[in-house]
Amino acid sequence: MNMIVTIFVIIFIISELKALKQISSSSSSSSSSYIKSNNNNNNNNKLKSSSSSLYAILKTNTVVGSKNLDWPNLGFEYRQTDSFVKIDYKNGQWGDIHTRTNPYIDIHIGATALHYGQACFEGLKAFHCKDGKVRIFRGKENAARIARSCERICMPPLSEQKFMNAVNIAVSQNLAYVPPYGSGGALYIRPVLFGTGPRIGLQPADEYSLVVMVLPVADYYKGGLKPVTAVVIDEYDRAAPRGVGAAKVAGNYAADLLPNMGAKKAGYPIALYLDAKTNTYVEEFSTSNFLAIDKNGAYVTPKSDAILASITNKSLMELAADEGMKVEMRPIKIDEVMNGVFGEIAACGTAVVVTPVNKIMYKNTVAVIGDKNTSVGPTLKKLYNRVRSLQQGEEEDKFGWMTEVN
Ligand code: PLP
Ligand code: COI
Repeated sequence: MNMIVTIFVIIFIISELKALKQISSSSSSSSSSYIKSNNNNNNNNKLKSSSSSLYAILKTNTVVGSKNLDWPNLGFEYRQTDSFVKIDYKNGQWGDIHTRTNPYIDIHIGATALHYGQACFEGLKAFHCKDGKVRIFRGKENAARIARSCERICMPPLSEQKFMNAVNIAVSQNLAYVPPYGSGGALYIRPVLFGTGPRIGLQPADEYSLVVMVLPVADYYKGGLKPVTAVVIDEYDRAAPRGVGAAKVAGNYAADLLPNMGAKKAGYPIALYLDAKTNTYVEEFSTSNFLAIDKNGAYVTPKSDAILASITNKSLMELAADEGMKVEMRPIKIDEVMNGVFGEIAACGTAVVVTPVNKIMYKNTVAVIGDKNTSVGPTLKKLYNRVRSLQQGEEEDKFGWMTEVN
């Protein structure tokens, strides 16, 4: 009997030593740790397959938000965290999930991402909730959207499960950077999928990578529900009617840099685009959707094939309906905006959350939105509070939007 116990203890010690070796190598700056996964992996399998029980214990022992950061004043800035996740696509299939610590990657000089903009990305957030757990907001929606973006620019999509596993691992390895509950921040998750294989003729690559980086952020526009002044971009278009505006492809953002920087320089923190064909309908802001509350209290948001289907907007529409509000997705004329049809207007998105817009500048005319003595309208305030309390686990997750990180 004693003999059996001794053998068992020896086996256990050897397996734990192996796990320790793996952890120490994954924290050296140039290393990559290997997490075997297949399409049927769930998040628990990830821990089992990545190494042993000790690894899991060490990871769960990480104190959420234990990095010494100025949490209330994070801004929306790049910050390096401990590691990121990388998955490569080669020989017609997506491979295993690796974690890496060195934020530089080698890329072929002929990579299609560099030459032909074959790249797309996502933005989602993990929150430290009231009960102490860390949860991701609507990650499956991002998995579906990145698959749509991939399809539009001829890149191989990856399964929802693999996407969710990659995101889960990136967050769980960086729990120390998740802003503590109550600080107002979140761990921003940025998956980027791009062509790495070389081409010189215009063709899709045969090799790709997905990287998932995470970083702690506050809201994009400082001050949460503080209103901003928008300017309508009159000299440039964001997306053509049958172009790539509905996909979250990198090139859309490159096209917006010049107009966006111009708007900022002129003193407008946020820029609104009109439709490229007639220049009369509202499309969306550079990095967020447009939403408005009309004088009858209905939630109104533009209908157009050229805008990105925002997951925040979708959530707010569902919450508005839940509040008994009428929800309309319809073409919105810029003249309606300028002529006071809407009592409240906001930008919405993962980074901006819900940012009220209290003035809009268009062709040298300024429209004041809502009551100029009230900084934020009551409906926006209500919707903002609901989405934030759901994200932070203060309100019951009755829609099943949150996924626990493990
Ligand atoms: N529109 C654009 C152009 C964006 O970049 C974003 C940001 O992701 C959004 C809308 C908002 O989408 P989501 O709410 O899914 O973040
Ligand atoms: C997001 O809100 O997640 C985005 O991707 C917008 C980004 C350009 C800041």
